[in-house]
Amino acid sequence: MSSNSEHQKSTGLHIGTAAPGVQKVNPILVIDHVKKSFGGLTAVDVQHLEIPSGAITALIGPNGAGKTTLFNLLTGFDTPDTGAWSFKGKELAGVPSFKVAQMGQVRTFQLTKALSLLTVLENMKLGAKNQTGEKLLNSLFPFLWRKQDNELEAKAMELLKRFKLDAKKDDFAASLSGGQRKLLEMARALMTDPVLVMLDEPMAGVNPALTQSLLEHVLNLKKEGMTVLFVEHDMHMVRHIADWVVVMAEGKVVAEGPPDSVMKEQAVIDAYLGAHQDTDLGVVTGRIKVISEEGK
Ligand SMILES: Nc1ncnc2c1ncn2[C@@H]1O[C@H](COP(=O)(O)OP(=O)(O)OP(=O)(O)O)[C@@H](O)[C@H]1O
Ligand SMILES: [Mg+2]
Repeated sequence: MSSNSEHQKSTGLHIGTAAPGVQKVNPILVIDHVKKSFGGLTAVDVQHLEIPSGAITALIGPNGAGKTTLFNLLTGFDTPDTGAWSFKGKELAGVPSFKVAQMGQVRTFQLTKALSLLTVLENMKLGAKNQTGEKLLNSLFPFLWRKQDNELEAKAMELLKRFKLDAKKDDFAASLSGGQRKLLEMARALMTDPVLVMLDEPMAGVNPALTQSLLEHVLNLKKEGMTVLFVEHDMHMVRHIADWVVVMAEGKVVAEGPPDSVMKEQAVIDAYLGAHQDTDLGVVTGRIKVISEEGK
């Protein structure tokens, strides 16, 4: 963990008392009355939520709390029953996912969506194209497309190098480990130079040998000026890298605040930590120790 010690937590992100819906000094996402039900089940019911710019925000909560559903709604992969939200001041309701990405808001998936039968490099290039949308002009003028393709490839290789996947560029994505696939997804999300990167459980299923480098990659996104919103069950990671924590339970935001104080709140302990205290937290702490032992 020593290489992370210079990492600075962002403070002074909110105005007034930290509580659900608290105003942020410089919000990048502002969410109002976003509701989504599946049959009789209310998966998401967020009255008001602001995500601070330039910081790392963790979205935590028990299984089924609505975290992934909220991600899906905010990125245009699903539509809410009601509600509105804006990204950098622009209304996003009804905007399709590829446009959302084009505007600078990208996400990764809890279950990685790397295309197994494509190579690592093809995944990178295709991801970028899907997100920018194919332009008619390019199909009419192949020389334009080729130039763009060369540029895409150069950019993809640069990112693959950074995520230590460059040696695997011609391997099928299917041959990657779970952790490498998570890295590929993160690398692919960066192909469009996003402003906001949303990661759904970046550490889930990742081999302990890769967790440290994943942490570093997330911290680097912030260092480079991006805003990060991530869903994570690993409380060690949350405490270590989050500047702000939002807690969801049963579709609602039940608490938010800086990591150290929010995790002491009774509502959070009741909704989440209490149930995990004996299991996940112990396991997580153990796992982080295991890394350093196994990592040599
Ligand atoms: N497509 C769907 N159809 C029906 N129910 C759904 C659908 N997607 C999610 N749900 C339900 O909505 C609730 C919220 O699910 P969601 O996946 O958003 O939770 P989560 O907080 O991401 O949980 P986890 O930590 O397990 O990933 C759950 O009860 C889930 O079963
Ligand atoms: Mg989820």
